[in-house]
Amino acid sequence: MDDRFNTIAGWTLFGGIVALGLSSLSAHYFMADKEHRPEKMGYAIEGVVEEGAGGAAAELPLANLLAAGDVAKGEAVFAKCKACHNADQGGANGIGPNLYGIVGKPVGKHAAGFAYSADLAGHGGTWDFATLDQWLKNPKAFAAGTKMSFAGLPKGEDRANVILYLNSLGSNLPLPAPEAVPAAGAAPAAGAAVALVGDAAKGEAVFAKCKACHTIDQGGANGIGPNLYGVHGEAVAGDRGGYAFSDALKAHGGNWDDATLDSWLTSPAKFAQGTKMTFAGISDPQQRADVIAYLKSKK
Ligand code: HEC
Ligand code: HEC
Repeated sequence: MDDRFNTIAGWTLFGGIVALGLSSLSAHYFMADKEHRPEKMGYAIEGVVEEGAGGAAAELPLANLLAAGDVAKGEAVFAKCKACHNADQGGANGIGPNLYGIVGKPVGKHAAGFAYSADLAGHGGTWDFATLDQWLKNPKAFAAGTKMSFAGLPKGEDRANVILYLNSLGSNLPLPAPEAVPAAGAAPAAGAAVALVGDAAKGEAVFAKCKACHTIDQGGANGIGPNLYGVHGEAVAGDRGGYAFSDALKAHGGNWDDATLDSWLTSPAKFAQGTKMTFAGISDPQQRADVIAYLKSKK
């Protein structure tokens, strides 16, 4: 275990050195730093917008990958499956069974006339989002004697996208609700973030990150973002003194309760793709609970 860790650490370090070498080489070669242009155009508020970027890319829960997924990308992933699978309604079985309408159907029984392996036919259960995800990650781990000689899709995003594509073909089952994602390294506790008890005083300190864009006192002016007095319990993108919300947030619907605020503050861009709130989100569930408690105290 230790040896493996050292090897991995060694290669990671080596990779970093190579990457550094290459980037300084290309900087010299192309004189990319000649004009000292900022790497990203537009303003970034120190310590705010960058939060969470560059952290270890722990894989998100399936529900979140599905929520952020893309059917068109899934169709592209499906190119890998086409050698063996037809997914048209009424399409023929090939090396693998026809997959039209597979999401929500019993495992190993769906395609009439297809000779499933005994292991898949005897597996039991249904193809829901979770079982498809396991299967596509590693078919042999799911059913040891399967005939599907396909190594699997290692990337969670690819699996989520192709599952969305399959779901769009005659199944259209509702997607599971995204989970509040705990900070990297924290004990994974699905939904626990919402149940955490917030501390309004600590939340006021967290709110320092929001002040560049938001006022919160009653009657405070709108800034880059809307005044947030009394926002808890109000409609999402409701009337905030004439503030011009993005279409993305206006289209969202619903109210700001603990759960919606928690998912918004985890990742505004995931909650409402196209939102104007350029804030990476707060990865620590306790900090989110605290700032939500603070928002609640201001009404
Ligand atoms: C090399 C051929 C091959 C490739 C590539 C392949 N499959 Fe399969 N697939 C099969 C076979 C064969 C079976 C039947 C397995 C069995 O009976 O054990 C199967 C079964 C399945 C099933 C179960 C269907 C049912 O009726 O229960 C699903 C779902 C599935 N494949 C999805 C995919 C997806 C999605 C991809 C691409 C990411 C893919 N497969 C790539 C050959 C393939
Ligand atoms: C870089 C500026 C910026 C920062 C920092 C920022 N916000 Fe925002 N916020 C916005 C903008 C812009 C909107 C409007 C979003 C839209 O219309 O898509 C918004 C909208 C909101 C809303 C929705 C209000 C409503 O009436 O629907 C809430 C709640 C909110 N922000 C809370 C916070 C909290 C809490 C923080 C700090 C943890 C924070 N924001 C940090 C710019 C910011």
